Amino acid sequence: MRLIFLGPPGSGKGTQAAKLIEKVQVAHISTGDILRENVKMGTALGVKAKEFMDAGKLVPDDVIIEMMRQRLQKDDCSRGFILDGFPRTVAQAEALEKMLNELDMKLDAVILFKVSDEVVVERLSGRRGCRQCGAIYHIRFNPSLRGDSCQICGGELYQRDDDREEVIRKRLDVYHSQTAPLVGYYGERGLLLEVDAGRSSDEVLKTILDAPWGRSE
Ligand code: AP5
Repeated sequence: MRLIFLGPPGSGKGTQAAKLIEKVQVAHISTGDILRENVKMGTALGVKAKEFMDAGKLVPDDVIIEMMRQRLQKDDCSRGFILDGFPRTVAQAEALEKMLNELDMKLDAVILFKVSDEVVVERLSGRRGCRQCGAIYHIRFNPSLRGDSCQICGGELYQRDDDREEVIRKRLDVYHSQTAPLVGYYGERGLLLEVDAGRSSDEVLKTILDAPWGRSE
């Protein structure tokens, strides 16, 4: 199974990827998570990426493409993968196509998470994440059973720096101008599956699993 999760910030890409890898043994590759890990560790990549992320802008294509070139060559990708948050520009999509050809890999589908901007703002302003294991919660829609601690590992829950309303609005603008053109790009290649991501998490997961690649695993 080789899937791309495409959609605006807060559409549920990370939530669904975490649910899906409980059922199928594939790598979950989130460019946002890799970048945040680098920011936390203070690497050169993290220092460079932080100013773009805090402003709600995209990290430059050359940085992301090189990062993904290295990631896709790791052993765990041979079982398949979910790309969560990559590609995000046409240049990234073209680079990915080239990389996959070189690795002799084919995409099964691109899942488009469709949701309104207002739902995004509501979801992201209430999102909390675990500092320790990365689990994702929402103060209203999916609260931790342990209050301010993670119900899985007990870690501290925190709010991302880019989940403030003004940064969320900027991220949405960036999505509509730079990432939405990928809908046409993958539509032309016959790879697109649109999912109504405004429904409950379980309903969204069912739609993804009911597709041909979900049944075959
Ligand atoms: P990244 O971390 O990828 O952020 P994003 O794409 O903006 O997506 P999010 O993680 O915010 O949302 P999500 O769709 O995963 O939603 P989630 O499941 O958490 O990127 C961050 C930054 O890194 C970018 O701004 C950029 O600077 C940089 N970057 C990353 N990749 C890059 C690239 N390729 N090129 C350049 N720069 C890049 O859900 C959100 C909330 O909603 C949660 O609280 C969840 O509990 C709740 N929720 C989820 N589903 C439902 C549901 N069905 N019903 C109710 N609530 C729900």
